[in-house]
Amino acid sequence: MSPNGEPVLTAGDLRAMKQRGEKIAVLTAYDASMARQCEQAGVEVLLVGDSLGMVVQGHDSTRPVSMADMVYHTSHVARARQRALLVADMPYQSYADDTRALENGRALLAAGADMVKLEGGGPLVNRIRQLVDNGLPVCGHLGLLPQSVAGPDGYKVQGRDADAARQMIEDARALEQAGAALLVLECIPRQLAIQITESVSIPTIGIGAGAECDGQVLVIYDLLGITPGKRPRFVRDFLRELGPDKGIQEAIVEYVRQVKSGEFPQPAQSYQ
Ligand code: KIV
Repeated sequence: MSPNGEPVLTAGDLRAMKQRGEKIAVLTAYDASMARQCEQAGVEVLLVGDSLGMVVQGHDSTRPVSMADMVYHTSHVARARQRALLVADMPYQSYADDTRALENGRALLAAGADMVKLEGGGPLVNRIRQLVDNGLPVCGHLGLLPQSVAGPDGYKVQGRDADAARQMIEDARALEQAGAALLVLECIPRQLAIQITESVSIPTIGIGAGAECDGQVLVIYDLLGITPGKRPRFVRDFLRELGPDKGIQEAIVEYVRQVKSGEFPQPAQSYQ
């Protein structure tokens, strides 16, 4: 139940959506006002992403984001949440060992998150299993891992060669077996996202991973065209496209509509 008594969507509901072929609409939110706009538009998952380090705090990477920052923003979003599942990112170094991962994951759940998101596969799989065994719902994140990117040149499509692609499929399966309930796929070729989506029964949520993922996520400020600088290929400015007489709520509604209908993303926002 949310603080205002509404039933909240569960990981099981999202898995059922995958089975029905119904697309899942996800957006980042960092504050109560934006979370409310997303809820009204029918967004199913609110992600308090550590992208807030870049779009809210003005850093050039997500690494400076602290646990205190994540707890602060998660609590704001939790206050406005009604029906959407609330996922909070575990920031850089906050899951560097088993003890820290458990303690910090619990702090995010105490702040109002339903699930925590960690970046990576391989050696992280056992840590994720430990979190799940201790009752913490987990969302995995494969492909481009922003916390591992040191500078602006690191933002590249991942999984292009056969070995990297094979490893990512193995990682996705291992994350599912470890108990992850959701999986973000960032910046990978569309065909690889299709293979991963078909290889696991948990929903995949793509960002720059093609239209065949079970759902889509965008950074809300990108969708509204207010992120300065060069934009990645997968970003679409829904607000500008709707025209000058339309506002934030209509842009989010249009994003949800296009995710649900499969109109977003187009090949122009995907990698082949
Ligand atoms: O931090 C974030 O906003 C994210 C999304 C890009 C998936 O992890």
